[in-house]
Amino acid sequence: MRTHLCGNINENLNGQSVVLCGWVERARDLGGLIFVGLRDHAGVLQVVIEPDNKTAFAEAEKLRNEFCIRVTGQVRLRPESQWNEDMVTGKVELLAETVEVLNASAPLPLLMSDEDGEEVRLKYRYLDLRRTRMQHNLRLRTRLTKAIRNFLDGHDFLDIETPILTRATPEGARDYLVPSRAQAQRFFALPQSPQLFKQLLMMGGMDRYYQIARCFRDEDLRADRQPEFTQLDLEMAFVEESDVQAIAEGMVRAVFRAVLNVELPGPFPRLSWAEAMRRFGSDKPDLRIPLELVTVCDAVRSVEFKVFSGPANDPASRVVALKAPGAAGLSRKQIDDYAAYAGRYAARGLAWMKVNDPAAGVEGVQSPIAKFLDADAIVAILAATDAVAGDLLFFGADKEPVVNAFMGALRVKLGRDLGLVEPGWRPLWVVDFPMFEFDPDDQRYYALHHPFTAPAVADPDSLQADPSASVSRAYDMVLNGSEIGGGSIRIHDPALQQAVFDLLGIDEAEARQRFGFLLEALRYGCPPHGGIAFGIDRIAALMCGEDSIREVIAFPKTTTAGCPLTGAPSVVDSVQLDELHIQLKPEQ
Ligand code: AMO
Ligand code: AMP
Repeated sequence: MRTHLCGNINENLNGQSVVLCGWVERARDLGGLIFVGLRDHAGVLQVVIEPDNKTAFAEAEKLRNEFCIRVTGQVRLRPESQWNEDMVTGKVELLAETVEVLNASAPLPLLMSDEDGEEVRLKYRYLDLRRTRMQHNLRLRTRLTKAIRNFLDGHDFLDIETPILTRATPEGARDYLVPSRAQAQRFFALPQSPQLFKQLLMMGGMDRYYQIARCFRDEDLRADRQPEFTQLDLEMAFVEESDVQAIAEGMVRAVFRAVLNVELPGPFPRLSWAEAMRRFGSDKPDLRIPLELVTVCDAVRSVEFKVFSGPANDPASRVVALKAPGAAGLSRKQIDDYAAYAGRYAARGLAWMKVNDPAAGVEGVQSPIAKFLDADAIVAILAATDAVAGDLLFFGADKEPVVNAFMGALRVKLGRDLGLVEPGWRPLWVVDFPMFEFDPDDQRYYALHHPFTAPAVADPDSLQADPSASVSRAYDMVLNGSEIGGGSIRIHDPALQQAVFDLLGIDEAEARQRFGFLLEALRYGCPPHGGIAFGIDRIAALMCGEDSIREVIAFPKTTTAGCPLTGAPSVVDSVQLDELHIQLKPEQ
C-alpha cells in the first residue's frame, strides 16, 4: 500500500514519487492551500494539496483529525524560510497528487495530548497509542527485551515458560484466584512470580533459566506498581551471590549500552541494607541526590526536649537531621508544607532550624525548638551536619522505621524541589538484608524477601537462636531511586527450609499442604541455586524518562485495578457462575 514511511522522508528523496499511509494529525486550509500533517509510527510529514488538483483538493477538504488516509505525490524541498527545525522532516514536504480516505474518524473523544486525563487515555488507548510519546516508549521497550534476550542467549540461558494457572506463590501480596470448573470448590492462583517453578527447573538440571514472565499481585497500586506486570526472571544452579550479581550487572550494562548507548558507571557500589537505611532512610536510595540523614542522637540525649531525648535514648529509635543546603530562605508556609508531606509518611512532626551564623551557636540559629535545646546540643548538631550560614535543618525523631520512612521521603522531595538531583545513572546493589521483619501488631515475623531466601547462616540452630539479627543472602539492584530487581541465593536444604517456615509461623502440616512439592523436591539432590528478577516495566519507564510504569505498558490498569477500555473486571452471567460452582453474596 505504501512505498515509504512519513518520518523517513528527507532531502535525499527530493523529486521522488512516493506513496504514504497514515493519520491526519492536523489539517489546515490556508487561503486555498490545504496543509496536512500526516503521521505514521515513524514520524510526521507535511503534505500540501493545491487547489489546481481538483479531485485531491475536494478529498482533502473532508479531512479531519485522525482520518486514516493514503497519499501519493512528489517530495519537494521547502523554501528555507519555511524550514521547521522542530520536525525531523522539517526541510521537505509532499506535494499531493492523490488523496484517498481509507477510513474516516468520528469526532475525537480526547485531545491526543499530554493534557488528556488518564481515564480517557486508557479508555481510548488505541488512539492514545498513536501518539509519538507512546510510539517511542513501546518501541524502546521492544529494544529493551531484545537486548535482554540477546545477552542471556549468549550466556547459555534457556527460555522456559512456567504455568499461569498454578498454586499460590508467596511474594507477600494477595493472590488473584481462578475458580476451577472441572474441580468444584477449587481455585488456581495466578503466579505472583515464577519463583517456585524456577527453583524446580534448577532441580530439573536446566542449569540456567530465564523468562520474560507476567506476574500477578493483588496489592495497592502506585505509579510503579501494576496488578499484572512483567519480570525478567532468571535462575542459575551452582552459584553464589557474586555469580548471580555478575550476570545481572553485566546484563544491565549491556542493555543500557544497546538501548540508550549509555555506559553505566561501574562496578556497581554495594551498600548494606543497614547503611542504606541509616544514610538515606531507604532501601532503594537515589544516589543522584547529594543529601544524607545525619544521626544526632548523641547531641540530644540529655536535652529538655522530650521529642528528641526520648528517641535518642531508646535503642529502637533514632533522631536524625537532614540539611537542606541554602534553604534558610524558605517561608513558614513552605516549611509547614514539608511537615504536612512528612505527615503522609506518619511523621508526628517535623522540627526545623535555620542557620544564620553557625559560629554563634544558639545565637546564630532560628528555630521554634531552640529554647528546648541547650547550647551544647546546638553546637554539636551544627558540627555533625557541617551546617553553614543559609542552611536549613530538618529533624526527625521516632522509632527507626518511622523516621527512616518520613525523612527518607523528605530527602527525595527536597532533592527534587531544590534542584539537587544530579543528571545521569546511579546504579547500586543493596545487600545484607535482614531475614525477617517483626510485626509488633501481629507479634510475628515476616520474610523480608520470600520464604525461600537463604539465611547467611547455614544451620537451623543458629538461625533460630536470634531471628531478628539474622541476615539473608538477598540482594536488590537499585537505579536512580527505583528498585529494579531483587533476588537471592535459595535454601536448598529441607531442614533449613522448614526452620524458616517455623519462624514464619508455618508449621510442618501447613508447609506440607502449601509447599509439599517443593519440600519433597529438595530431598532429591537439589543443587545450590539462586537468581534474581527484574521489573521490566520499571526499567523501561526509567529509560523512557517516565514517572509511571503505565506509560510503558500498552494496556495498563488504573489505580483501582480496572481497565477502562474493556470494562474489566466485569459482571458475569449466572450460567457461568453455576458452571464454576459459585454463588455470589448479595452486595453489602
Ligand atoms: P520481587 O518481588 O522483588 O522478587 O520482584 C522483582 C522485581 O519486580 C518488580 N515488581 C513490580 N513491578 C511492577 N509492579 C509490581 N506490582 C511489582 N512488584 C515487583 C520490581 C522488583 O524488584 N521471585 C522474586 C525474585 C527472586 O527472588 O528471584 C521476586 O518476585 O522491580
Ligand atoms: P510539639 O512539642 O509537638 O509542639 O513539637 C515541637 C516541634 O517539634 C514542632 O516543630 C514539631 O513539628 C516538632 N516535632 C514533633 N514531633 C516530632 C518528631 N517525632 N520528629 C521531629 N520533629 C517533631
